[in-house]
Amino acid sequence: MRLDNLRVRDAAALAALLEAIPADPPYDVALAPGDPAGALLRDAGFEPYATTIPMSRAIERMPDAPPADGVRLLTYDNAMADRYEDAEFDALDGLAIYRAMGRPTGYAQGAGYGDFTVALRGERIIGFCFTQVPEGIVWWLGVVPDERRRGVGRMLIDSAARATRVAGGTHLLTEPEDTPDARAFLGALGFRAREPRELLIRR
Ligand SMILES: CC(C)(COP(=O)(O)OP(=O)(O)OC[C@H]1O[C@@H](n2cnc3c(N)ncnc32)[C@H](O)[C@@H]1OP(=O)(O)O)[C@@H](O)C(=O)NCCC(=O)NCCS
Repeated sequence: MRLDNLRVRDAAALAALLEAIPADPPYDVALAPGDPAGALLRDAGFEPYATTIPMSRAIERMPDAPPADGVRLLTYDNAMADRYEDAEFDALDGLAIYRAMGRPTGYAQGAGYGDFTVALRGERIIGFCFTQVPEGIVWWLGVVPDERRRGVGRMLIDSAARATRVAGGTHLLTEPEDTPDARAFLGALGFRAREPRELLIRR
């Protein structure tokens, strides 16, 4: 349960808020560094576990991505779940956000929600991208390590941009874990970074 845009005055207010949430923990919060709510949340048992970097760009004037050799894109189908989960593990193992979500993440049952596109080489899933449309929010994107730097990520973002545009959206927005790979990749695609945010979790 992600508590977005949390605003809280003091410890008692936070306790009352948590009490009123109609779901069990884990609870997850994203805050700007230095947000005064951080200290209250730590006192209430939340632990920091990752830093993310919100990045966005307009879809207009995004250059088309050249197809990567031997790679095709398909709309995800839940019948691909086993192959998808292998790819998800290979691509995201090592990221704190993936560890915190635990397996299964739930995306393997995500067909039909938003735009969910997978990249295949032969029958192997080598990349995936789940985008909320028309908002253009890229929630989940990865390419398996042995297929990186071949243009697969670029193809997936290009596909997310098309789906968003067709649905009436104008921008892509994503908030990956703040890693050199994610910054370099999105920076190369013309995304601009905003202030990093800290993620805290209460298990
Ligand atoms: C980020 C990620 C999706 C990139 O996928 P990819 O298929 O390797 O990306 P592409 O090959 O399409 O890269 C496009 C351009 O981005 C830049 N780029 C991508 N990864 C880079 C890296 N590690 N270092 C420097 N530049 C990089 C390059 O300019 C590249 O073009 P080039 O290879 O012609 O120089 C992949 O590294 C990944 O899955 N990382 C772990 C999961 C993750 O961080 N997900 C959030 C992504 S926002």
